[in-house]
Amino acid sequence: MTAVAENPTTSASGSRGELPPAPEGSIAVTVKLHRFNPEVDSEPRWESFDIHALPTDRVLNLLHTIKWYVDGTLTFRRSCAHGVCGSDAMRINGVNRLACKVLVKDLLASKGKHTTITIEPIKGLPVNKDLLVNMDPFLDAFKAVKPFLITYGNEPTQERIQSAADRERFDDTTKCILCACCTTSCPVFWTEGTYFGPAAIVNAHRFIFDSRDEGAEERLDILNDVDGVWRCRTTFNCTDACPRGIQVTKAIQEVKRALLFRR
Ligand code: SF4
Ligand code: SF4
Ligand code: FES
Repeated sequence: MTAVAENPTTSASGSRGELPPAPEGSIAVTVKLHRFNPEVDSEPRWESFDIHALPTDRVLNLLHTIKWYVDGTLTFRRSCAHGVCGSDAMRINGVNRLACKVLVKDLLASKGKHTTITIEPIKGLPVNKDLLVNMDPFLDAFKAVKPFLITYGNEPTQERIQSAADRERFDDTTKCILCACCTTSCPVFWTEGTYFGPAAIVNAHRFIFDSRDEGAEERLDILNDVDGVWRCRTTFNCTDACPRGIQVTKAIQEVKRALLFRR
């Protein structure tokens, strides 16, 4: 953790800690945060923190600096800090990203101007506090598409064999880390919260096209629903937002085709 603050804005809680000195090579940046504490705020509000950061710091480092040295009440999710767990999705300068994968040097203002980094919670899910959203609606949609292997008949006496080509068929959608960057960048999900959303469809795709699975028809029936794949307007926001590089819109199109031709 390398970012430090020299003259941090006093937090809403008034708490302020002792800050380490700015490291060599660091630059002053302003981190503008969307804050909301349901116990004291009737409306969300903005709060800015002036801190120092190295160009190689990640946005997650900046949030840690603010939380550990300036305002311990700042609330956000994170776990692995390496782009694996999917827990720190947030809107950074208006784009859904994982805070642990975005470097400060990629957010610097041009021509030496002062840099302000704006961080908000992902859109379309209820905000519990600050950058922490309630993931239940997102996870409910994920669970609804039955994201597990479905088979019928007797248990096999050996492993279920699959060819490399058959495995390749759904390789892309196995990479999902359930970060919700895609679903919460989808304009249809924002306006019609009942839409399953791209992440649920990606995880249905992962099993629909698995040659060992026998539950494709059930999942296709679920996604043929009024809140299913046909709501997608093919705007590609989801593909652009995915930190794993999954071809989300392509997967949705493949599920649509499977519905039209029932595999
Ligand atoms: S392509 Fe479909 S699912 Fe993806 S953001 Fe656009 S409308 Fe939403
Ligand atoms: S498809 Fe990509 S953006 Fe969507 S939840 Fe999975 S990893 Fe995140
Ligand atoms: S903290 Fe795990 S993906 Fe960022």
